[in-house]
Amino acid sequence: MQTTTAVDLGDPDLYTSLDRHARWREYAAEDAMVWSEPGSSPTGFWSVFSHRACAAVLGPSAPFTSEYGMMIGFDRDHPDNSGGQMMVVSEQDQHRKLRKLVGPLLSRAAARKLSDRVRAEVRDVLDRVLDGQVCDVAAAIGPRIPAAVVCEILGVPAEDQDMLIDLTNHAFGGEDELFDGMTPRQAHTEILVYFDELITARRASPGDDLVSTLLSDDELSVDDVVLNCDNVLIGGNETTRHAITGAVHAFATVPGLLERVRAGSADVDTVVDEVLRWTSPAMHVLRVTSGDVTINGRDLPPGTPVVAWLPAANRDPAVFDDPDTFRPDRKPNRHIAFGHGMHHCLGSALARIELAVVLREVAERVSRVDLVKEPAWLRAVVVQGYRELPVRFTGR
Ligand code: HEM
Repeated sequence: MQTTTAVDLGDPDLYTSLDRHARWREYAAEDAMVWSEPGSSPTGFWSVFSHRACAAVLGPSAPFTSEYGMMIGFDRDHPDNSGGQMMVVSEQDQHRKLRKLVGPLLSRAAARKLSDRVRAEVRDVLDRVLDGQVCDVAAAIGPRIPAAVVCEILGVPAEDQDMLIDLTNHAFGGEDELFDGMTPRQAHTEILVYFDELITARRASPGDDLVSTLLSDDELSVDDVVLNCDNVLIGGNETTRHAITGAVHAFATVPGLLERVRAGSADVDTVVDEVLRWTSPAMHVLRVTSGDVTINGRDLPPGTPVVAWLPAANRDPAVFDDPDTFRPDRKPNRHIAFGHGMHHCLGSALARIELAVVLREVAERVSRVDLVKEPAWLRAVVVQGYRELPVRFTGR
């Protein structure tokens, strides 16, 4: 089915309530292809929603590129400045080189090595929030763990980590009024300036961190190094914190989940995948056609932007039974929360370990999680995220 519509799907106001799922469900079930007129994106864009169509747009051999940018806001006349340099918006040789360099620092083995650090961070956070008071998980728990982990990978000294977490929240928290102290652009610039300083320090005294690894490649410019540190900082923080918050949300709302994880009768890795599917924190990815392409029966000329809505694909009724329900035992679970194809998330092993540790530690330390009120959602199109998740924990 093909649809043309006047709705601008890049309008962040559409995503602050659960109505978004009803819209996505309808589009995914129809395998719709929706056109958004110029507005949030100066050139307008097509959208796809079904699991099949999203996988086709992102697939390894799909005639699409990320080099002009991978988010709504795409402007044909002013493509992404970091295109061709930053991993997520680069292709071919540069992309292969960056994945090869950065991959080992985010691999399953590296993630396993970091799991003690993750556990220590989770325990520390839980010590602070298990005081019987109302805890906003979205602020107190979600952001802390991934930020600490990413800082570790980057080689950011402990004393700078709080500042970087704040800056990340400002830069990538969406157009929400919560983050209006500084414009997102200003916060992002601050992060890049900080990386410049970190590069100077690592040049003088290299370590086994990401900054030193990128610096060791003679072909990469300082600009390349800064942009790819930024890629890992954004990729690692922005999405994972909402998945972690979502894991606690699941504990509060899915009957018996806490007890089953504690007793070992639910397989934690399976639960992690269901958290990823159910939360789908990366809301969309954009691609631009690199040749003539036919999608859902519609012929698209080169240079056409197409957006794949990952949460819609992850609740596509053609692939997932009872898709809105969190099923701790869901298997198989072919979600595409980490994307699909060449740009499949490089930090997926790390994100999975973080989630597994959070699930186990919370189940170990907490006997009840009570929702104080329904979550509030970010006003954003890049991430599907929690603005506020107030809960009360009862310790064991
Ligand atoms: C790419 C989602 C955690 C680093 C991606 C993409 C998605 C995604 C959808 C593909 C973007 C595209 O196709 O254009 C997520 C989710 C996460 C998560 C849902 C957590 C729940 C992480 C972590 C890190 C990370 C923890 C690193 C510490 C990256 C990088 C890329 C990427 C470097 C670019 C890969 C490439 O272009 O080849 N992520 N991510 N992500 N992610 Fe993640």
